[in-house]
Amino acid sequence: MPGGRLFLLKINPMERELFVSVDDYISGLFIPQDGVLTAATNSIKEAGIGDMSISPVQGSFLQLLVKLTRSAKILELGTFAGYSTIWLARGLPEQGRLITMEFNPVHADMAEKNIRRAGLDEKVDIRVGKAIELLPELAKESVGPFDLIFIDADKPPYAEYFEWALKLSRSGTLIIFDNVIRDGKVLDPNSTDAAVIGVQRLNKVLAADQRVTATIMTTVGLKDYDGMAIAIVK
Ligand code: DHB
Ligand code: MG
Repeated sequence: MPGGRLFLLKINPMERELFVSVDDYISGLFIPQDGVLTAATNSIKEAGIGDMSISPVQGSFLQLLVKLTRSAKILELGTFAGYSTIWLARGLPEQGRLITMEFNPVHADMAEKNIRRAGLDEKVDIRVGKAIELLPELAKESVGPFDLIFIDADKPPYAEYFEWALKLSRSGTLIIFDNVIRDGKVLDPNSTDAAVIGVQRLNKVLAADQRVTATIMTTVGLKDYDGMAIAIVK
């Protein structure tokens, strides 16, 4: 492929329409209208900020993984407005707990309201601050090991987050990373985009690390072309 063009490839409008329609088709079949989730999405629109939440179908997929693994302790890095938090926490059993970390206090405040509206405030503990500073504190607390860890925070330190996730894991823990394909930009070895470089580094580390069995599932739909890395601790 000649110089760089491959990495600038964008889904064209007609393809995008198809992918979004298929996403809506799946949602229409499997995801009932839900006032709590709609309110969380509306809180983002009302705040006038870009929505970097996972899609409804991705939420249903993550919840399925929570149930598949019978997770009772979940750790999430990157709460944003709590949309993914709600999907994950709703998959927990009665006594299940979720700790979620958010750097931006405005986002954490939105999440707190959305999680309370969902009736999940007893199950969910929002910690405000930089994950890279909160994780060592968490490791000292003996709340782990976690059964499932969802990493969706800032991308440059993804490989460091992976190391912390391992420290907070047991054999069988599922570790999931959002946004590891980034419209295919991960193919560009000369990328200067800090987020791309962060996930490229993570993907390499994950592939080489003998402590986990891992792969990447690509996704296309409402959230354009991306992927989630999924690792299980040996
Ligand atoms: C961004 C972050 C995300 O976690 C995501 O799913 C999409 C976009 C971002 O930082 O732009
Ligand atoms: Mg994300």
